[in-house]
Amino acid sequence: MPSDDDIRPKLRIVRGNDGLTPRSIVQETPVHLPGQFRNLFDLTDKVALVIGGGGGLGSAIACGLADFGAQVMVADLDIEAAERTANRCDRDGRPAMALEIDVTDPESIEGVIDEVAESADKLDILVNAAGINIRKPAIEYTPGEWWRVVNTNLSGVFFATQAAGRQMLPRGYGRILSIGSVSSLLGHPYHAPYAATKGGIAIMTKSFATEWAPHGITVNALGPAYTETGLTRAFLGDDERRQKITATIPMGRLGTPEDLVGAAVFLCSDAASFVTGQTLYVDGGRTAD
Ligand SMILES: NC(=O)c1ccc[n+]([C@@H]2O[C@H](COP(=O)([O-])OP(=O)(O)OC[C@H]3O[C@@H](n4cnc5c(N)ncnc54)[C@H](O)[C@@H]3O)[C@@H](O)[C@H]2O)c1
Repeated sequence: MPSDDDIRPKLRIVRGNDGLTPRSIVQETPVHLPGQFRNLFDLTDKVALVIGGGGGLGSAIACGLADFGAQVMVADLDIEAAERTANRCDRDGRPAMALEIDVTDPESIEGVIDEVAESADKLDILVNAAGINIRKPAIEYTPGEWWRVVNTNLSGVFFATQAAGRQMLPRGYGRILSIGSVSSLLGHPYHAPYAATKGGIAIMTKSFATEWAPHGITVNALGPAYTETGLTRAFLGDDERRQKITATIPMGRLGTPEDLVGAAVFLCSDAASFVTGQTLYVDGGRTAD
């Protein structure tokens, strides 16, 4: 097993013409030792909060983070769903906790993030996985419906990211991951407000990323394709519609919550320490088409 000294990058100072003034620092050709990358995805000692963790995608991501060693806190409007996920994420020495949250209320978000940071002493990872959709022709949308979708999907992500930043910035470390959608990039009929929030998440992710890059915090998003969860079950229940949607995905199937886990663990780990501002589409090729 290589020692820490063995795997620390070897740096060389390049000096100017006077042979004294440092001009730049370059990394010597690295020697990659056996085992050097073994722990890249390890989340041991990390504290993660998954908001919307009671839902289909959030609960799979929460369990994935726990499997890679994180202590996982699960927050959701549906506290019973949060408790079910927390029970699955409970590991020896890393107790999971369930908390009630309403992401449309910035005070509720602030309260939950403070509670997590206080009880676990820190917050390393935030996953924003709460979301809703109201499918109907744009012309029939009421102002109240617009605000419900926007406040949940977009304002919720902003205020949770902001509150997490207050914990992460002073410590100089953080991983923030929000769930966008293929609708961050593509337009579909009957959900203009939803698409506005998902496009908003993609560009807001870039903005947070550039602002917090110098502070050791990465901010990324995932873009799932249609996946059967509480959000889509009724909609995908129509066989003809389901087949039509499946036909738009080059891999010829819908997504599963488990499809997101590898990408989520990657973006929350040290393996992705130089990745920020990205939306990673986990979509069977849907947005490549
Ligand atoms: N399922 C898909 O096909 C799909 C595709 C692309 C993106 N997404 C996105 O993934 C995220 C998770 O969706 P899902 O498919 O797991 O749906 P889901 O309905 O299974 O989970 C969403 C969770 O958010 C919670 N929630 C709703 N309003 C809330 C609020 N005000 N405060 C706190 N929690 C709230 C719900 O209780 C639920 O547990 C959403 O942002 C969704 O837009 C889903």
